[in-house]
Amino acid sequence: MNVSSPGNFIRFQIRDNGIGILPEELPHIFEEFYRGRQAKAEEKKGSGLGLSIAKKIVEMHHGKIWAESEPGNGTVFFLDLPILGTGQPPAAAASGPSLSALS
Ligand SMILES: Nc1ncnc2c1ncn2[C@@H]1O[C@H](COP(=O)(O)OP(=O)(O)OP(=O)(O)O)[C@@H](O)[C@H]1O
Ligand SMILES: [Mg+2]
Repeated sequence: MNVSSPGNFIRFQIRDNGIGILPEELPHIFEEFYRGRQAKAEEKKGSGLGLSIAKKIVEMHHGKIWAESEPGNGTVFFLDLPILGTGQPPAAAASGPSLSALS
């Protein structure tokens, strides 16, 4: 696990040395109910919801989550969370109704 702050955000990097994720599966791992071929073969449990829930929570905080992986060597998950008050307002907040617009 590594934490850095390369801009107006904090970046968490979580590395494992597990089975890794195939390049063709990587674009799908954050989809609801998606489970990789190897995960299905090797694990008894798993709903395929873990990462989709993580992604929803991260996006509610105006952050980003993604993964890079080498099959057989492991995976790194990246998580960027904005530091509020130091940069541009998050797009979703900016497009919502503001108090001044209501008055
Ligand atoms: N650290 C990891 N290493 C290798 N593959 C992973 C890793 N994390 C996720 N994956 C792959 O992404 C798929 C989706 O992950 P996700 O966490 O959404 O579901 P899951 O782990 O199968 O089930 P659960 O809902 O119990 O978390 C997994 O089935 C697996 O193929
Ligand atoms: Mg999971």
